[in-house]
Amino acid sequence: MKKVQQKKQAPRMEISLRINGEARAWTIAPGDLLLDVLRREGYYGVKRGCETGDCGTCTVLVGGKPINSCMMFAAQANGRQITTIEGLARPDALHPLQQAFVESGAIQCGFCTPGMELNAAALLAKHPHPSEAQVRETLSGNLCRCTGYIKPVEAVLDAANPKPAAAASCSHEHDVVGHNVQKVDGAKLAGGRSAFTDDIHIRGLLYGKVLGSPHAHARIKRIDVSKAKALPGVHCVLTYKDVPRVPHTTAGQAWPEPSPYDTYLLDSKVRFVGDRVAAVAAESREIAEEALRLIKVEYELLSPVLDMEHAQDAGVSAIHDEPDSTGIHDAKHNVAATIHKELGNVADGFRASDLVLEHEFRTARQQHAMLEPHVTITWLDPDNRLVIRTSTQVPFHTRRQVAMILQIPVQRVRVIKPRMGGGFGGKQEMLLEDICSALTLATRRPVKIEYTRREEFFMARCRHPQILQMKMGFKKDGTLVANEMTVLASTGAYGSHSSTVQGNTGSKVLPLYRAPNMKFDCDIVYTNTPVAGAFRGYGCPQGFFAQESMVDEAAQRLGMDPVELRRKNLIRKGDTDELSAQLGEGRKGLPRLIRSCGIEECLERGAAAIEWEKKRKAPQDKKSHLRRGVGLACAMQGSGIAGVDWAAAVIKLNEDGSFYLQTGAADVGAGADTVLAQIAAETLGVSIDKINIRSGDTDSAPFDVGAYASSTTIISGGAVKKTAEKVLLRVLELAAQLMHLPADQLSCRNNHVVAAGGAPAMPIADIARHAIYREKVQIIESASHFITDSPPPFCATFAEVEVDTETGKVRVLHLVTAVDAGVAIHPRLAQGQVEGAVAQALGYALFEEMLLDQHGRMINPSFLDYKIPSAKDMPKLTTILVETNEPLGPYGAKSIGEVAIDAPAPAIANAIFHAIGVRFRRLPIRSEDVLRALQEKKDKKEEQKPAVRHALAAASD
Ligand code: FES
Repeated sequence: MKKVQQKKQAPRMEISLRINGEARAWTIAPGDLLLDVLRREGYYGVKRGCETGDCGTCTVLVGGKPINSCMMFAAQANGRQITTIEGLARPDALHPLQQAFVESGAIQCGFCTPGMELNAAALLAKHPHPSEAQVRETLSGNLCRCTGYIKPVEAVLDAANPKPAAAASCSHEHDVVGHNVQKVDGAKLAGGRSAFTDDIHIRGLLYGKVLGSPHAHARIKRIDVSKAKALPGVHCVLTYKDVPRVPHTTAGQAWPEPSPYDTYLLDSKVRFVGDRVAAVAAESREIAEEALRLIKVEYELLSPVLDMEHAQDAGVSAIHDEPDSTGIHDAKHNVAATIHKELGNVADGFRASDLVLEHEFRTARQQHAMLEPHVTITWLDPDNRLVIRTSTQVPFHTRRQVAMILQIPVQRVRVIKPRMGGGFGGKQEMLLEDICSALTLATRRPVKIEYTRREEFFMARCRHPQILQMKMGFKKDGTLVANEMTVLASTGAYGSHSSTVQGNTGSKVLPLYRAPNMKFDCDIVYTNTPVAGAFRGYGCPQGFFAQESMVDEAAQRLGMDPVELRRKNLIRKGDTDELSAQLGEGRKGLPRLIRSCGIEECLERGAAAIEWEKKRKAPQDKKSHLRRGVGLACAMQGSGIAGVDWAAAVIKLNEDGSFYLQTGAADVGAGADTVLAQIAAETLGVSIDKINIRSGDTDSAPFDVGAYASSTTIISGGAVKKTAEKVLLRVLELAAQLMHLPADQLSCRNNHVVAAGGAPAMPIADIARHAIYREKVQIIESASHFITDSPPPFCATFAEVEVDTETGKVRVLHLVTAVDAGVAIHPRLAQGQVEGAVAQALGYALFEEMLLDQHGRMINPSFLDYKIPSAKDMPKLTTILVETNEPLGPYGAKSIGEVAIDAPAPAIANAIFHAIGVRFRRLPIRSEDVLRALQEKKDKKEEQKPAVRHALAAASD
């Protein structure tokens, strides 16, 4: 307390600086960071991504030099010239660099964009025509989790060497769909304008902080918050004694959620390092942090369950021994969920096989590492309704969950989702909204909680680690006869997404190949480790790693080309996928019918792009310590959850012939708003600028399940198309009266109603004015959409690697991804989705892993120690969009958001085998693993030498 009082009385100082050309003078504390001061003063283009100088989102130019403003005291900026992203743009237009970022598709969520642009601006000031290597080097200080860096690098090169504007993007039959229109939020994000949850000033805001458990498994015996409460500036301290005890799941899934209700707002038991113990709200972040330190907790330590392989052993503590949790399969033995399904008879299948392979695979915990951490701001509006402004993929589910947990009616809660700085599944989870709301209800004040990067690593979610036993049986000619996968997965301390993620591991992976006999068994166990949840790919990256490695080995053992073996067994158009119907999260019992399938073409075009035939046969340079190899893997995913996901849209016509489109879809940065606006514009026959899209506010938008399961294009897009068709009909009916022509001879194109016989066209604006001022009618329509199937997108990924046999380092040289996602509504955005997914998969394959010590505590909770790929790590990427026409999708579209993350890891592992003859069955494949394996291979060879000599000698005798 003394320390805080000292802090509060700490001397203030005046600084003067020129910021974006303007003279400013501020009063600061000597310890204030430049980042904090800039954001406090409304320069929201300066982002907070890590606070350790590792991510570059807070980059500003100080005297023209890029600086991480989180690593500089504001006092050090005294007298200096500062440029933030707000100063890069001209008042009336974007800077050419910003324009290049918009046009090249370099912006997805846009959270990293201001930092990248400023770094690039400094580079171009010094080197007006930099090489690609220089650009990559420069951007390597700016982490991006969305783009795979290909397009940002292109943007900088384009800005340096402007090219004449490219002609229309493709020869599509449509006017808007299939074209690379400007992203609807592109200019806003490129300019660093206020867009994200925390880009807002709220008077009287309190800062919330959550005390995380230092222990993996313990009971709270006593908790004393008196000192924390007495600290000046503290408004509220909450423990389990102060809040309603309502079992729930944090998984943002449709009601009734398939995940167990095993979580509490605050509890008297902690189940992982970082689990919630208490929460405070205070006048400043520093005071809130000090208050956390003053909370005295006495724990009764319980033995932690850290190893998923022993979680079910007799005598092991039950992690969920509370009586009120529901939906847990077997709490006594730490089994959150279990899945068992067999089609045909695998035992018979293996007996009938000529080659049976069986291996174990292991995968690690990967974190989403989106650049914008979880952040939530809550307040009470003048009607005393709870407003939650939050970075979420699931606004409507969050509204329902918070209402349930805090026991208030849904109608008293409003959720607003501004732009999001990435989600990837990590924000399909209600992590802060409930506790932040509880603090607001307790204090009647606005409260913000924002995870630091360290807290993000400790408290947020991760990909499920799995141990997979895979068994496959083939005939001599390569026909797959039986396919069996047995999975043990750790869900961590809570069962969020436990059965559904692992259900996907079976239902999306095994049916990729036609086998008469398939079996999937899975146990998902609780452990006292970080909680797993939804993550792009949703259980598939683990499953495909195992399956695709096995198929590669089968090809080698059968003496077949891996492409040919796959071609022989792959699912194809007209097939029905029975397993998905039985294991899928959605409506059970309806087999999935494959109505569109471009996997053959993906294989063909991918193989050509990587020069498969040539490189598979290329001899190694035996004198070099570098070995090259190529490998491939295939994958499929889904498009929404069949029979569960649904969405609605509302479209109204404005008097100037433009339209308002309201949707509940949650654009996570992938471009959903743009794609939905394109679908509306195409259907209504207007240009994209005539569509004003508003999304993500539960008060004004119609219902939508949110952004997950690759559902937005097909489900929300379907709703938008249906709605637009209804509006179009009304426009044409009115036009028919005005033009004295039958409505069925009219259509809309280029913002006009046009007649089949060549009669003069009429601007839609005229019809709109007529409707509003003469007919006195508002043309407004809504429609809902859901489908009972989940059309799979497909992909084939080819990798070329170079392995350094002296260091074990694996360098990926080239990744080719050929994807069938139906018709790409926006090809450039679709490519960006693929590139971003591939970058995340590259990290998953080679270096990303949350490491825990023997107490279950993460030991690498920073971007310094938990590496995600940077611009320098990215190999050459080739993305091929193979077009098929999916009858269930709007304009033939399927999903693109997830499938490309599934296959790079096995493709890389298979390429490594091709290069050095060693199979890796654990992810990530680290340099030390490669080196160890090479040494073991060498040792084995040495050991065999005397035996071989002996055998040769015996033979010659
Ligand atoms: Fe770079 Fe999202 S666009 S982090």
